[in-house]
This record gives sequence, C-alpha cells and structure tokens, in this order.
Amino acid sequence: MSPTPVDLTATESARVLGRVLAPLVAQGAIVRRPRATAWAERHQTDRTARAVLTDLRERHGGAPLVVRIGSRRVVVVTEAEDVRRLLQGSPEPFTPATKEKHAALAHFQPEGVLISSTAERWHRRPFNEAVLQTDQPVHDDGAAVVDAVRRGAAQLTQRLDSTGRLDAQSFTDAWWGIVLEVVLGTRARDDRELVAVLDALRRDANWAWLRPRRTRLREELEGRIASYVQTPEAGCLAEAAHRRGPATAVGQVPHWLFAFDAAGAATLRALAMAAARPPVRERLLAEAEPAGTSPALLPYARACVLESLRLWPTTFAVLRDSTAPTEWGGRTLPAQTGFAVVSSFFHRDPARLEHADAFVPDAWLDGRNNADWGLIPFSGGPVACPGRNFVLLVASHLLTRLVARDLRVARGRYLARDPVPATVDHLGLGFRAAGSA
Ligand code: HEM
Repeated sequence: MSPTPVDLTATESARVLGRVLAPLVAQGAIVRRPRATAWAERHQTDRTARAVLTDLRERHGGAPLVVRIGSRRVVVVTEAEDVRRLLQGSPEPFTPATKEKHAALAHFQPEGVLISSTAERWHRRPFNEAVLQTDQPVHDDGAAVVDAVRRGAAQLTQRLDSTGRLDAQSFTDAWWGIVLEVVLGTRARDDRELVAVLDALRRDANWAWLRPRRTRLREELEGRIASYVQTPEAGCLAEAAHRRGPATAVGQVPHWLFAFDAAGAATLRALAMAAARPPVRERLLAEAEPAGTSPALLPYARACVLESLRLWPTTFAVLRDSTAPTEWGGRTLPAQTGFAVVSSFFHRDPARLEHADAFVPDAWLDGRNNADWGLIPFSGGPVACPGRNFVLLVASHLLTRLVARDLRVARGRYLARDPVPATVDHLGLGFRAAGSA
C-alpha cells in the first residue's frame, strides 16, 4: 500500500510554493515570458525545486505531499507509482480538466479536448487521434510534412549564410512557418496575424482567472482557423480534420498550434546538444543520409528530441483533479482535490535513473526509459499526448536538416559534458556557423 498523504507544515508548504511551483508559474505555463525564463536559467530553478522535493520525499517516506493553496488542496506526488495511478486513472477519477488548466486554456481553446468534460472527450479524443494518426510512427501526410520542414530549414540556412548566426528569434519565425503549413496548409505559412492573435490570447491564458476572457479576439482566431479548415489544402492536418468534421476541427486546432511551441523549444535545445557534442551530430548525420528527402522514421533524431524533453521538460507539471473521493494510503481525499506531477523532478531523479543528469538519447532506444511512469514528456495513459508521433516527425527532420550545417552554440562548454545544466533557457540559445567570426 502506498504511504498515507501527509499534510505539509506551513514552512514546508511555503518551500514547495516558493521554490517549486512559483518559478514554474512565473515562467508562463502557456506562453513563456522571456525575462522569467532567463531568470530561471540564471538561478537554475529546477535544481532548487528538485532539492526541495527530494528532501520532502525522504523526510516523509515517499508519501504524497498535501499543500494548501488558499482553499485549494494540491497533492504533489514524489513516487513513480503514484504517477502511474494518476495517469492510468485519467480521465476518471482523475480528470486532466483541472480548475487551473480550464481557467488558462479557456482563453483560447474552450473546446480543446484537454479541458473537456468526460462526455465531450468521448468524441473529441478519437477525433484528435484519427487526425494525428496517434499510433502511426509516420503520418500518411509525412511527405508534405517533410517538405514543409525542408522549406523552414532553407529559411534558416539562408539566414546562416547571410549573417553567420542563428538565434532563438529567427528559429521561432521559421518554426511558425513550418507549423502553420503542416497544420493549416501552405497558404497559411505567412499568416503571422493568426500567430499574433493566438499569442495575445495565450498571454492572457498565463494569467488564468486574473485576465478577462476576450471573446471577440477568440472569435477572430476561430474565424481565421475556419477559413483554412473550410477549404483545406491536401496534405495538412486541416484537411484530415475537415474530412472528419469541420465543426469539431475549429475547436481543436488552437491546441495543435499552441502545442507545437513546446516542440520548437525541444528541437532548439536538441540542436544545441548536437552542436556542443560532435559524436551526437555525427550519428544524426549518419542516420539521415540514407533517408534522403523521404519522410523516414529517424529513431536517433527522435531520441535526441525526447532526451531534450526529458532533461528540460516543456510541460512543467502534469495536473489532475479528482472527480470523486479517492482512497490513498488509507486516507480518503475529497473530490476536487488537485494533484501535481512536477516533470523536472521525476525526469532527473537519481533514485530511479542512473543517467539522471546525463544526455543519453540511447536510453529511449534500448528500452531503459520505456517502463518508467516517471518519464512523462508526453504524459501517459489514456490522456497521453495524441500528437507525439506527429510532432516527433517534424522535430526529428528539422533537427537533422539543421545539423547538416556545422554550428557552434554559445556557452557550449556547459552542454558538452555531463552533468548538463538543470535549467536551459531555450530563448537565450544562440548559434554561429563554424568558421564565421
Ligand atoms: C514536443 C511537443 C509536445 C509535448 C511535449 C506535448 C506534451 C503533451 C502532454 C504532456 C500532454 C498531456 C497533458 C496531461 O496529461 O494533462 C499533451 C496532451 C495533448 N497534446 Fe501534446 N505535446 C506536444 C505537442 C503536441 C502537438 C504538436 C499536438 C497536435 C498537433 C499535440 C496534441 C495534444 C492534444 C490534443 C492533447 C490533449 C489530449 C487529451 O486531452 O486527451 N501535442 N501533450
């Protein structure tokens, strides 16, 4: 039986709130705040968070940690077995549509499956799985996807040719071009107004209840999305979505666009690792060569992106609310109790992982990471990310194309050897072409 959840003292709660949860909220759960992410890197906030949770786990024998936040009770788990219970028990009795997530995501995706009721989820989840072809390693539209990636990579290579440099801003610009194309089609590629509207709503979402909902702006976003979904181009997600139901599609696309942001961050960090470690780059190049321009499965490149997500998770915390009273270690927790799985703590837990702080993509290939419920870059169980294979296809091909250029990453010495830093601000990464000043 798992240990009984323990109510933290006021001092312990303050440590969890101040050193674990507050830095995550400050960085922006929905869209990152660049000054806060730079601050987080300077202070290596994930290292501090990990130390706090490790200490509390030892002190309380692995019992779930009950933190009071005003009238809210949030249980922070510290054992992989408890993560398994929460994720396998989703969406009932542990719903992903938590109060906080709902307050945030409703700003721009009120119909998103993640914050849907269990009844709505019943058709929205299969819709997502069908369009994204969740269980298929390479999507049927793979050729069009790789073509979009090629165009995005060309934009970045041209920039490298003309300036000798690549920074997070130019990467993000090219990344949005790829995302708009694979989701909404080639004619959406330059629709940066759509991105600006989405960004404005996401900034509101960072503030959850503290910002009023801007219905008109959201309608503008939906109108723009609808204009692509209603007359979709072949080979993009909008087309598959239109085929399965245009009405449902418009409500799901905002999440798809938003979720790609995380993949951009993961790809950029993986690129930094490849630039700092020549053997990683060589393996990526060797894998890509026989693939040519085909939408091949690139296992090592995918593993590099997964490893980037393990070391620097983009979903800071996986949250659940209980929908009914739940029995836990002999204690009954009331319905509406919140649960939090802090990803960076589980992803680098030396008690479970020999390679906790090392960059080891092979652990995704040889099975070491597969059976561990604490490794949840894409979550797990029935609510796990249905876009995993699709997004890894995009990210692995872009990574492979970019490493074809010999890049140097600024402050690469911190990444060249293990242990790697606990916190890396992807917005602060900068590259230059080898040989340029
Ligand atoms: C590296 C990029 C991504 C990461 C790390 C990621 C991670 C996640 C995680 C952790 C969850 C589950 C959250 C939970 O359990 O509460 C999730 C859900 C989801 N993701 Fe992703 N995701 C990524 C990209 C994408 C993309 C590109 C799409 C679509 C094109 C997508 C579609 C979804 C959907 C629809 C859900 C909700 C699933 C549900 O509620 O049943 N994700 N993702």
